[in-house]
Order: sequence, then structure tokens, then C-alpha cells
Amino acid sequence: MTMVAREMKLQWIVLALFMVLSKWHHCAAVDQLVPCYFIFGDSLADNGNNNNLQTLAKVDYAPYGVDFRYGPTGRFCNGRTIVDIIAEILGFHNYIPPFATAQEADILSGLNYASGAAGIRDETGQELGQRIPLNKQLRNHQITVSRLIEIIGNDESTALYLSKCLYSVGMGSNDYINNYFLPQYYPSSHEYTLEQFTGLLVDQYKQQLRTLYDYGARKIAVFGLGQLGCTPDAIQTYGTHGSACVVIMNNASQLFNSRLKPVVDQLNEDLTDAKFIYIDFYGISGDNGFEVDNIGCCQVAEGGLCNPDKPPCPNRTEYVFWDSFHPTDAYNVFLAERSYSASNDLDAYPFDIRNLVSLNQGVAASK
Ligand SMILES: *[C@@H]1O[C@H](CO)[C@@H](O)[C@H](O)[C@H]1NC(C)=O
Ligand SMILES: *[C@@H]1O[C@H](CO)[C@@H](O)[C@H](O)[C@H]1NC(C)=O
Repeated sequence: MTMVAREMKLQWIVLALFMVLSKWHHCAAVDQLVPCYFIFGDSLADNGNNNNLQTLAKVDYAPYGVDFRYGPTGRFCNGRTIVDIIAEILGFHNYIPPFATAQEADILSGLNYASGAAGIRDETGQELGQRIPLNKQLRNHQITVSRLIEIIGNDESTALYLSKCLYSVGMGSNDYINNYFLPQYYPSSHEYTLEQFTGLLVDQYKQQLRTLYDYGARKIAVFGLGQLGCTPDAIQTYGTHGSACVVIMNNASQLFNSRLKPVVDQLNEDLTDAKFIYIDFYGISGDNGFEVDNIGCCQVAEGGLCNPDKPPCPNRTEYVFWDSFHPTDAYNVFLAERSYSASNDLDAYPFDIRNLVSLNQGVAASK
């Protein structure tokens, strides 16, 4: 074969490969609204990252997963978590796999770094054992980004790819439940007022969200705190003194959320090629129409997680809570649908996940 012929053959191969790749890419784009979804969070999003840690905050046993296709996986739920349902809505054919056990091939469509008992602060949740705090989740993501650069081949294409992904971050619940409101284990409530502690927490969170931006995130949904004072555990542990819920814990949620919303504004102002949105789980959980909203469906052991030996309630779609902390699959569907497609201006700010993923951020970034 002459030099020219060989070169032409090579060009043909390259062209054919390019056509296959672009066709594949085109198909993927039609099916899925984003090419990738990266998840940061606590037990509301954990899908198995804690299974091999030494911790009381793991649930890889029945009746967890009783309504899930894959049985008990480490999800703190009878079925799907909020982020599972968001992934379904976005058109992913598989749930986003946990970082702990992910394969090299999984990286391109995103990973889930969430860990039960984890917090914004590193010490949060330590009374339960090992966990992966948000700082460590971000370092794990940094490892993922390095691998992506190797797979994709160059920094610029990787940056463009990462800018098209959806990112969701839901943190802060444990910094209250498994830190500030446990004075027997943590000094935080002796050292700080609720306002001071919340200020520190939100400042640190803001830095962490900036770090996520530094690793290439451009479409970021931040989940606010739900009504921490309305979990069956809070009601049972602290009492409600005539209210429906534990007032001081709901105050903590509201305080945190009211500080977080301006942070979202400021990040959008400072980082103009990114978009952050805030999801108001507190408000969304208000009028939910569920029959039972103050007791969990399964019979819990001490610590508020389901007892492995006991059967759960049969009518799980009527319950908000699965165990003493975590929502049922049915309630997660309600939360995920309102996050994706807001029913009113307060659900999502400045707009919902549907609008976030439709932004042409990647194209803007490549100019
Ligand atoms: C909760 O917040 C309300 C409104 O700001 C306040 O009046 C009340 O004293 C707070 N309650 C507790 C227990 O902190
Ligand atoms: C759910 O099932 C339990 C057990 O059968 C029953 O006692 C309860 O009333 C049911 N709850 C609702 C809201 O229907």
C-alpha cells in the first residue's frame, strides 16, 4: 500500500468512527435530557456508599428496598430516593451508581457520592460511625474529573462535557440532627447560638458549592432543608408541647433556608457562566395530601431505622415517612416531581430543574 492510500484508509476509519460516535451521541441526547448527573448528599440520596463503612447509618437489609426493583441496596427507603426519581424523569435508563462501587464505564453518565449521616461539617454524624462528609464527597468528585480527563482526552472537551451535566446537592440536615441538637455528643450548641451556627454552616456550604463550580459544575440544584421538626424521630425524642412538630427544629430549617437562598443569588451573580437553583423542600412538604404524616411505616429499632425482623405497614403509599427520618417512595415521587416541575413560584428559585436542564450552558461555555 502506498503512503497516500494508507493515509486515505486511515482517514476513512477516523471518519467512520466519528459518524458512529456522533450518531450514538445524537441518540443519547434524544433519550436523555442531560448526558450526566452527579449527586452529593446525605441519607436522602445515599444509594449504597455507606454499605461497606463501619457505621450505624446503613440500611442494606430488608425491609429497606421492599418496593425496589433491586431489593435492599443501602437506600434509606422502601423504594426510590428523590434523586432516583429525578434521574428517571431526566430519561436515564439506569439509576446513577454509587461512587463506592462504580465501574470505570459508569463515570460518563454521572456518579452518586451521597452518604448517610454526612454533613457540611466534617465532624457531623461521627457519633454513628464512618461517613463521607461533603468535603470528602468533593474530593471523590475531583478523582472522577481526573479520570474523565483521561477518558475524554483533553481538558477543554472534559470541561464542556461537565458543563452539560446536572448536579444536585442536598446537605445540612445532619448538621442539626446529628450535631447541633445532640449536645451530649457535640459542643456546637454550647459554643454558638442557632443563628451563629447556621451562619457558619451556610458560609462553609457556600465555599463547598464554589469548589463544585471549580470542578466544572455549571447546572447545580441545591436542596433546602425539609421540616426537621416534623420527623417521627424529632416528635418522639423532643416532644411537641402542643404543636404539630418540634418548633425549634423547624426554626432551624427555616433559618438555614433563609440564609441559603441569598447564597444562591450571590453565586449566580459571581459565577455568571453557571446557574444555581434552590429547591424549597420545606414549603413543598406543606400541603401534601398524605394520610399519615407523623409516624413511620416500618417498625423502628432504637435509632429510628427499621427493625430488620419486622414487617412494614402494607399501605405504604399513604405514608410520608418510611422510618423515623426518611420519606417513602410515594412521598419522594411527590418531592421529585415538584422539584422538577414547580407548582408555584416558591417551590423552586429562581426556577425549577426542568428549566435548569434546558439551559444551553454548555454551548455558552464553549464560545
Ligand atoms: C421559633 O421562631 C419563632 C418565629 O421567629 C419565634 O417566635 C419562636 O420563639 C422560635 N421558637 C423557638 C423554640 O426557638
Ligand atoms: C394502613 O394499614 C394499617 C394496617 O392494616 C391500618 O391500621 C391503617 O388504618 C391503614 N392506614 C390508612 C391511612 O389507611
